[in-house]
Amino acid sequence: MVKVAVIGTGFIGSVHARNIARHPGAELVAVSDVNVELAKKIAATTGAKAVANVAEIFANQDIQAVLIATSTDTHVDYLKRAADAGKAIYCEKPIGLDYKEAEQAVSAVRAAGVPVMLGFNRRFDASHAAVKEAIDRGDIGKVEIVQLTSRGPKPPPISYVKVSGGQLRDQTIHFFDLLRWLTKDEPVEVYTIGASLVDPAIGQAGDVDTSIVSIRMASGALCQIDSSRRAAYGYDERVEVFGSEGMVESSRQSFRGFSLYKGGQILKDGLHPGWFERIEGSYFAAIDAFLNSLEKGTPPSPSLEDGLRAQLIADKATESMRSGQAIKIAG
Ligand SMILES: NC(=O)c1ccc[n+]([C@@H]2O[C@H](COP(=O)([O-])OP(=O)(O)OC[C@H]3O[C@@H](n4cnc5c(N)ncnc54)[C@H](O)[C@@H]3O)[C@@H](O)[C@H]2O)c1
Repeated sequence: MVKVAVIGTGFIGSVHARNIARHPGAELVAVSDVNVELAKKIAATTGAKAVANVAEIFANQDIQAVLIATSTDTHVDYLKRAADAGKAIYCEKPIGLDYKEAEQAVSAVRAAGVPVMLGFNRRFDASHAAVKEAIDRGDIGKVEIVQLTSRGPKPPPISYVKVSGGQLRDQTIHFFDLLRWLTKDEPVEVYTIGASLVDPAIGQAGDVDTSIVSIRMASGALCQIDSSRRAAYGYDERVEVFGSEGMVESSRQSFRGFSLYKGGQILKDGLHPGWFERIEGSYFAAIDAFLNSLEKGTPPSPSLEDGLRAQLIADKATESMRSGQAIKIAG
């Protein structure tokens, strides 16, 4: 039974806390948040202790693992403190606000030698995993084009946007990771265009809410990722990989798979109302993988290095968007 504490009990931290609490291989010992009321609320529903001073969590020798789900601008500090305290770590994406601070944190964490998993939960989505299996089996031959889409459903609060690192580091980063994982290949060049088309407040905060990233991979394959903070028809996430011998996709998913056939029409359910509903199952699967790796003593995956690589791509994509130039990414 792995004893775990969750730091940050906002939206996603609450999801993780509930998943850990119901996992048979874990005990949720403590939760903490600067907003103590939030921590108390999740403590009341999970049986964990709400801790006002997070230092108590790091000092508690019984706690073996911490899950960092605070806002992005605090990850680096908590990663270092958790590693210093010798805890195993599950850290939400991204590692930090930019590559430089992420790299510094990674050096400190590597030196401590603790196991770390990055919260790239989409790798645990059953449809995306089936795409990977097909590619790995050679079903589509040599990968030539990858198209990834993440749209909507509605922009996060502006307070979230301001501490997120920007759309490419916050939203699109999941797809930079998926791209590497699916293809076992590395981006070598990136070109990005972006705009604030959805919410002028996002533009005023120096971010974009709509972007298209074009990527050349080391193998020569080409990739395009489009991201939007709004879709008027629900959450639209798609993965399509085109190869020399075929194509494989993880397509748009409807909410319930329900259809009504009547008269000359077929009325089908639309997409999931939100991104969370679409990929909800992958969060438990990711926590399960983390706990299993701790139990077996195998390195958790996605790793800290995967997090750093995705962070580098996100930084280069952001640099390209700001400069209007294609940017090379060192291998
Ligand atoms: N893997 C995913 O799909 C996914 C989904 C959503 C969010 N995230 C990531 O999770 C993180 C949190 O996102 P969210 O949507 O839950 O945001 P949120 O704003 O709902 O929650 C963040 C929480 O962190 C708390 N907090 C801020 N600074 C703190 C500090 N110094 N110490 C303790 N608590 C602190 C806030 O009070 C808040 O409750 C972000 O880094 C985000 O990128 C990942």
